[in-house]
Amino acid sequence: MSSVDPLRLAVIGTGYLGATHAVCMAHLGHEVVALDVDESKVARLAAGDVPFFEPGLDELLRKVLETGRLRFTTSYQDVAESADVHFICVGTPQVKDGYAADLRYVEAAFGGLAPLLRRPALVVGKSTVPAGTAARMAELVRERSGNDQVEVAWNPEFLREGFAVDDTLRPDRLVFGVASAWAEQQLRLTYARAIEDGCPVVVTDFATAELVKVAANSFLATKISFINAMAEVCEVVHADVTKLSEALGYDERIGRRFLHPGLGFGGGCLPKDIRAFMARAEELGVDQALAFLKDVDDINKRRRARTVELGRELVGSFAGARVCVLGAAFKPNSDDIRDSPALDVAAAIQRQGASVVVYDPAAVDNARVMYPELEYAETALDAARGADLVLLLTEWTEFRQMDPEVLGAAVAARRLVDGRNALQPTSWRAAGWTYRALGRP
Ligand SMILES: NC(=O)c1ccc[n+]([C@@H]2O[C@H](COP(=O)([O-])OP(=O)(O)OC[C@H]3O[C@@H](n4cnc5c(N)ncnc54)[C@H](O)[C@@H]3O)[C@@H](O)[C@H]2O)c1
Repeated sequence: MSSVDPLRLAVIGTGYLGATHAVCMAHLGHEVVALDVDESKVARLAAGDVPFFEPGLDELLRKVLETGRLRFTTSYQDVAESADVHFICVGTPQVKDGYAADLRYVEAAFGGLAPLLRRPALVVGKSTVPAGTAARMAELVRERSGNDQVEVAWNPEFLREGFAVDDTLRPDRLVFGVASAWAEQQLRLTYARAIEDGCPVVVTDFATAELVKVAANSFLATKISFINAMAEVCEVVHADVTKLSEALGYDERIGRRFLHPGLGFGGGCLPKDIRAFMARAEELGVDQALAFLKDVDDINKRRRARTVELGRELVGSFAGARVCVLGAAFKPNSDDIRDSPALDVAAAIQRQGASVVVYDPAAVDNARVMYPELEYAETALDAARGADLVLLLTEWTEFRQMDPEVLGAAVAARRLVDGRNALQPTSWRAAGWTYRALGRP
């Protein structure tokens, strides 16, 4: 910790990204004040309680609260007076009536902070935004602050939910979109520890920094949809996409990661980021360059429909069927249900007349709020009791390790759709289960 010259930092927006950033920056030795407009979130964080599931974050929050280096507030005046570098971490969801990013929270954060800044300050965007936003925010801040010692920078975030603490403390790269050497220096001081440990830094202009993030997510989404497109083909020619993926993955130029066939991507980032990228490209007149992302999105949605169809094939009709869904989070080790493929499939099955019982190790509370029409259970076995069909839709370790005999004793019929290609078909079939999975016989 000795190598860090403590800075006075503010973090605005304490969701998955902001809370993690605030806690980790304080852990590294900085003085951090974190702000959210959601008073209940601020109260919980101040009491040492992380309002979402993220492995290791609760423990680290309590540890840094004891040092006195982290505190929480709802006052913009407070952060303006207390910090020199302000990280904007508010949400950028998809607009209700289109593909574009909803920038109202970003505009409110930059616009709300700017007039209160009376000293030299750097306001750093971390939210994922369309190219051109940083330049617009720099203009907004210049107008509203009337202070030419206030600057804007963009520092996109690449953390993965489920690994957020480690990714923040040991990032694989740092991208600084800056307009001056002073801004670059403030960011180098903020991340001194990671840089000292060898983390590469890419210093660039605003637009490139903004694009790095959406380009990275577009690439990852494309890789997932590529293998899922192969799964569609495998289904027709009775080939096995898991073997195909294994064989492709040995090619170092291709690599194994993000080449796992299954129900596809969801969550608060990939789907909305590729859509916002397409929307921005259209505004800029380069929509042809990103036309393939529409296919990436469509392939991804078709996997959800195909999973519902696989289940229906097994039970004949969903009307009156009892269906157990294992998984609600959009991925394991998270309670995030934003655009969750698992819940999307569960709700579609319920609409076709089944009664659906969902279990997830972390996301049931969130799921209950968003999908009150579904039933929820406390354990996988409870969810499976009396079921005519089980669908595994989020690949938690707990589900990967299930014993086919133990689960088999609870259900009414041993029928399983493995939506994540997470189980060994041979052992499930040996235990008398009818096992179906995406992209394999
Ligand atoms: N979650 C991730 O894994 C991740 C990773 C990289 C980048 N991002 C990007 O980071 C941004 C935030 O994502 P998230 O997942 O943390 O979202 P989130 O919805 O969990 O958190 C956003 C927070 O901002 C707060 N907020 C809204 N308006 C505000 C305002 N005017 N002032 C202060 N606080 C305000 C909300 O109350 C909420 O707590 C998005 O742009 C997202 O794309 C997220």
